[in-house]
Amino acid sequence: MKTVPLRAATVLTASSAAFLIIALSMTSASAAGDATKGRADFVRECALCHTIGKDEPNRYGPNLFGIVGRAAASVPGYRYSPAFRSSANWVWKEDVLGAWLSSPATMVPASRISVFEGVADRDKDDIIAYLAAQK
Ligand code: HEC
Repeated sequence: MKTVPLRAATVLTASSAAFLIIALSMTSASAAGDATKGRADFVRECALCHTIGKDEPNRYGPNLFGIVGRAAASVPGYRYSPAFRSSANWVWKEDVLGAWLSSPATMVPASRISVFEGVADRDKDDIIAYLAAQK
């Protein structure tokens, strides 16, 4: 009697593994990022703290219009945390944004964004494509 549930479990595991492989290969196929999906992700995951339209006011975080290609910590009128201001000495490029969005607390441990634990890998490229298009 024991073999029946065991077999069922094995079948289930095998098929979920197959599903996972399919899902993973679909993700990597769209490495360039989909800005339309990224917009929805931005609204869900970032808009609580950030505006992105030109000349929109800063919120808890700075306005992100034109962020790709801009020096970090350079939004006029936004009071960055001392930790961010003193250590963020890079220009925001896609790869730097990728590292930041995966884990801001790893890049700047005492940054004020650090309550935000980062985005899922599957959303990252889409969000970056959306950010890059706002300029
Ligand atoms: C809980 C609020 C919060 C959320 C959610 C959040 N951020 Fe932030 N973000 C901040 C704060 C605050 C800062 C400024 C950090 C500092 O001064 O220490 C910041 C800084 C940034 C910066 C650097 C800006 C600059 O001028 O150099 C980028 C880029 C950024 N966030 C992108 C995002 C994106 C994209 C998302 C969504 C995936 C997101 N953030 C979600 C609060 C947030």
